[in-house]
Order: sequence, then structure tokens, then C-alpha cells
Amino acid sequence: MSSEELKVAELVKRSSGRVIAFTGAGISAEVGIPTFRGRDGLWERYDPEELATPRAFRRNPELVWRWYAWRMSLIREARPSPAHELLARWESEGMLMGVVTQNIDGLHREAGSINLVELHGSIWRMRCTSCDLKLDLGFGRIPEEIPPVCSCGSIMRPDVVWFHEPLPSDAWSRAEELMGKAEVVLVIGTSGLVMPAASLPLMALGRGAILVEINPEETNLSRFARFRIRKGASEALQGVNRYLGGIS
Ligand code: APR
Repeated sequence: MSSEELKVAELVKRSSGRVIAFTGAGISAEVGIPTFRGRDGLWERYDPEELATPRAFRRNPELVWRWYAWRMSLIREARPSPAHELLARWESEGMLMGVVTQNIDGLHREAGSINLVELHGSIWRMRCTSCDLKLDLGFGRIPEEIPPVCSCGSIMRPDVVWFHEPLPSDAWSRAEELMGKAEVVLVIGTSGLVMPAASLPLMALGRGAILVEINPEETNLSRFARFRIRKGASEALQGVNRYLGGIS
């Protein structure tokens, strides 16, 4: 275990109840779900403009749905990592206020996180392109019909945020509220490149919060972090957790 983990454990203990986690694809990389950037990233293999934009969906809804169904088939084989599980446990123990995630894989919810903000929606929800019907498929459930059709006759779309789309206003305001209260933000597994999500930790920093980055690599947010644990999410959080056990 590293001295950084000890320092982070002391910090988190001191700010217990005022700690928030901000997560990205890296926290799910350990359970086999590809990240977007960097080695083997999805955007190294697929063009987001072809698959993750409203225009791509209008042009070829079946192609977009087949890509999401493929991602769903990958994700449903995965189980929450020790990192997902520790964050849920720290929330149940009252140390962590909750999780603001950019991920759509649903693994924080599967791990038991309750106070969870899914900024970019969920791959396990779909919504109608015409009426306001929204359907929760449930983790692991892939629609039989591609593209799925709403009872109103229009096609359904994944309830996720695509490039060039605004974030859901309720998710954004909940995330802002949590960042406003945070004394410590654990920034886990994100390149910090995609706005406006990546501006949230900086909002907390601007209000005096301390950022802790947990990521094997340098990122766009590294220079704002007081502590940086250059390890995978599970190894890092398990290290912090072991020290927490010893701090009275
Ligand atoms: N533990 C922690 N971090 C890891 C791990 C790991 N085991 N493995 C990889 N990482 C880090 C990488 O170093 C990288 O910094 O996870 C980060 C993943 O970055 P991205 O692939 O850019 O994912 P993310 O930051 O979540 O992307 C944000 O971009 O395409 C959009 O909507 C998509 O929500 C996504 C957003």
C-alpha cells in the first residue's frame, strides 16, 4: 500500500459524509468493459459520429441499435468490480455521499449505490423518439426487436446522452448539488476530456474541495488533484480501505 493511499484514507475519514465519487469508464475497465480512449478504446475502433450521435441514429437506427446491443451483451457478462462495491459500501456506511458517473453500464447500481447520478443515462433504459414513454429494461435485458418499437408506433432509442446532446437537466442539477456539498471528490477512471461532465470536479475544486485522482495514467484533471494514486480503481480503493480500517 502507498503513502498516497494512507493520506487519502486520512482525508476521507476527516471529511466523512462530505465525500463524492466522480467516475468514468476506467472503473469498469477492470471487469472487461472497454473504455473509450487510449489502448483498445471504443473510439479507436468505431467512429462515434457513426454510432453515438442523433444524426447517426436518424440515418441508421438499426446499425446504432446493433452496436448498443453488442455493448449490452458485453456488459451483461460483467459483475461490479471491487471498486464499484467499495463505493457502494462506503455510501451505506455514511462516509460517501454517493456517486456521479459518466458510465451508462449500470454497474454502480448493480453494486448497490443508491445516491447515484447517471449523467449520460443508462444502456439498460430506452425511450420513445416521439411520446414520453421511458422503459427500464433491467440489467442484462437486451430488446428482442431491433430497433424496438413503442406502443405509439414510433421507434425507441437508447436512453443515453449522445454527442451534441444536452445532459438530462435533473441529473445535472443533482450532480451540481452534490459537488457543491463535497469536501473531497474521488475522480476515478476518467480522462476528464468530455464536457460538461468533466467540469463538475472543477466546480467542486472552485468551492474549496480537494480532488483525489485514481487512474493508472495522467489525465486532463491530474494537475488539479491534491493526491494522485497511479493504480487501477480496485487496487487503489482496496488500499485506501485497508488504511481506513486502521484509522480510529
Ligand atoms: N482503473 C482506473 N482508471 C482506469 C483503469 C483502471 N483499471 N483503466 C483505465 N483507466 C482510465 C484511463 O487511463 C482513462 O483515463 O480510465 C480512463 C478512461 O477514459 P475514457 O475512455 O475517456 O472514458 P471517460 O473519461 O469515462 O469518457 C467520458 O466520453 O465518449 C464519452 O460518453 C462517453 O461517458 C463517456 C465520456
